[in-house]
Amino acid sequence: MRILRWLGIGVGVIVGLLLIAVAGVYVASSARLNKTYKVPEEQIAIPNDAASIERGRYLVTTVGQCVDCHGENLAGREFLNAPGIIRAVSANLTAGKGGVGARFSDADWVRAIRHGVTPEGRPLLIMPSQNYNQLSAQDLGAIIAYVKTVPPVDQEPGTSQVQLFGRALFVVGQIDALAAERIDHSAPAPAPIVPGATSAYGNYLVTIGGCADCHGAALAGGLVPGAPPSAPPAANLTPQSELSGWTDADFIQTMRTGVNPAGKHLNAFMPYKYIGLLSDDELRAIYLYLQTIPPQTMSAK
Ligand code: HEC
Ligand code: HEC
Repeated sequence: MRILRWLGIGVGVIVGLLLIAVAGVYVASSARLNKTYKVPEEQIAIPNDAASIERGRYLVTTVGQCVDCHGENLAGREFLNAPGIIRAVSANLTAGKGGVGARFSDADWVRAIRHGVTPEGRPLLIMPSQNYNQLSAQDLGAIIAYVKTVPPVDQEPGTSQVQLFGRALFVVGQIDALAAERIDHSAPAPAPIVPGATSAYGNYLVTIGGCADCHGAALAGGLVPGAPPSAPPAANLTPQSELSGWTDADFIQTMRTGVNPAGKHLNAFMPYKYIGLLSDDELRAIYLYLQTIPPQTMSAK
């Protein structure tokens, strides 16, 4: 009987340690998820002319990929549900019931998109503000102007939740879920940018389009952290890769069709559906920029 008692104590100790680990994960993750951010206010002119609103619509539906998470009507939706890890629900951006449109001031829009922070100072989950942080004031103004014009939709999409395993992955740094943690909130606003078929504009599109989120900071490719198991590793986009033999026309064709010059159909996890909507000049700009980055072999990450 003594052995049973020892066994009982052993199991009790293990259960106790597990509970402590779970509590630790909750405490550490909650401290980050519920942290309050104070972001310096930035004055941005919100235009109301048709050309600017059209520019905003273009950014939202192409390189900005807002519609991918917020839905075609921007009314918010659950776009990711991995039980035990995360349930990601985007916000309703319209002025309908359950949307933020009716209550957001211009400063609230800027804070959310550029800094990934709610009006109450909470960091937004998954919302890729680390990329939108680099939007020019003009483009950010155009995006806000457009979002304000979309028809109101009454819809309460619900709230996101990070569950136990998601919190554990988050605590050990396997998921970068909070853009607000990665942004320098007091950095000066980015300089104005002139659109055109230039590598500088390509760099801008690569930044706001979030290519580095999947292809890595050096764009050298590799496994994408937090990707669904079905997703292949992201490709190496540096000059020392398969892309080195591509012409600009090859690149444009690949983004438009999702089929590369070798005849390979790209996995839909690669958002060519949105990137391929860019103009020839813009895609050429991205191609030109990719020629200028340091060559690298594919990274492990
Ligand atoms: C990868 C998915 C994703 C993309 C792309 C995305 N969002 Fe979001 N967005 C979210 C999620 C998820 C939330 C809610 C996060 C939360 O509540 O913690 C959110 C929240 C917001 C909010 C804040 C609402 C609030 O309650 O404070 C605004 C504003 C917003 N998004 C605008 C945009 C705009 C504009 C774009 C494109 C330029 C965009 N989002 C692109 C996922 C995304
Ligand atoms: C959500 C993750 C994700 C984002 C964001 C993303 N990519 Fe990709 N990309 C991938 C994955 C994964 C592959 C590999 C697809 C495959 O092997 O089927 C890929 C493949 C490619 C290829 C094909 C390379 C080849 O050898 O055939 C190019 C070119 C490319 N991406 C460019 C870009 C550019 C430019 C951007 C930003 C504007 C971008 N990607 C953004 C995930 C992403």
